[in-house]
Amino acid sequence: MRVTILGGNGFLGRKLAARLARDGALGGRRIEQLTLFDLVEPAPLPQAPFPVRRIAGDVADPAAVAGAIPPGTDVVFHLAAVVSAQAEADYDLGLRVNLHGTLAVLQACRALGTRPRVVFTSSVASFSGGQDAVVPDEGRQLPTNSYGAQKAIGELLLQDASRRGFLDAVNIRLPTVMVRPGRPNKAASSFVSAIIREPLLGLTTECPVSEAFAVWICSPRSAVEWFLHAATMDTAPLKLDRGINPPGRSATVARMLNALESVAGPEARARVRFVPDPEVYAIVEGWPAAFEADRARLLGFPEQEPLEDLVRAFIAEDLETTRRERGL
Ligand SMILES: NC(=O)c1ccc[n+]([C@@H]2O[C@H](COP(=O)([O-])OP(=O)(O)OC[C@H]3O[C@@H](n4cnc5c(N)ncnc54)[C@H](O)[C@@H]3O)[C@@H](O)[C@H]2O)c1
Repeated sequence: MRVTILGGNGFLGRKLAARLARDGALGGRRIEQLTLFDLVEPAPLPQAPFPVRRIAGDVADPAAVAGAIPPGTDVVFHLAAVVSAQAEADYDLGLRVNLHGTLAVLQACRALGTRPRVVFTSSVASFSGGQDAVVPDEGRQLPTNSYGAQKAIGELLLQDASRRGFLDAVNIRLPTVMVRPGRPNKAASSFVSAIIREPLLGLTTECPVSEAFAVWICSPRSAVEWFLHAATMDTAPLKLDRGINPPGRSATVARMLNALESVAGPEARARVRFVPDPEVYAIVEGWPAAFEADRARLLGFPEQEPLEDLVRAFIAEDLETTRRERGL
């Protein structure tokens, strides 16, 4: 089978590509070609048992996207996006990448005429309700930020394209994924990873919200498992509704820091200082802190591992690379 990852050089795109290289197959079918597409040429994928095309291009450029989704493509993972705080700060950039990019993906898939599976990464940020919310599966998407609105629009377009038979979409509304390697980024939720990653690197960091603040989270490992399931599941039971609220976990900052402390000791926890940031808070306060996620469980999306495991996984898989990349 042929697979494309748009946003293939990003955090989750790289994790997914590495997993496909390790498995060599998807849903029991051998992968014959993988295309990685991103703004800059994606990093090589050593040890991949199949040919890998690495393409630099803009997802909002229809010709470039068509080149990344060649005839015979079975599965497209559409992960390319401008993240939350950046899309809030630059409205035109968010519209171009998150909306027109998704339209370009839709049209490229439609042009194939073979109804490829499209796994689209939507977000918890497409919902509101804040700290008290427990979003039911039929909960309404009422975003409090432009990024969330762009994701919700993308979902609706891909859902309708599925109904028309142009493609076969599964829209996963990802929780905040932690622990993200590398440096702090422009996502409003950047602190969720920073309060674990920076102390593990021996650095101090500022937390812009209080210890009681709860976040709907998942691990990169779970996110990748969900992508693989979404790529291979029977979509008939979804009927019209292509949106999935996957089974993440609701965790307060205090609970995250307890996990950090239990794995790395009190000195790691002491590296987190609480410094309120009204701009970050204005974005994240609207995000719901919990979901029911019963439909996703019934559809076979696997459960999230405990927080301590998630901290240990970061140490095992990403800490040394992060240290090297940042010259620490
Ligand atoms: N990480 C999270 O916590 C989280 C939570 C909810 C949803 N998501 C969604 O999951 C997806 C992957 O997230 P991630 O954490 O890997 O983000 P990321 O920023 O690491 O990766 C996104 C990739 O998209 C690429 N990109 C941006 N603009 C582009 C353009 N114009 N053309 C081509 N590529 C472009 C970036 O270069 C980047 O490599 C995104 O769609 C994101 O919105 C992530």
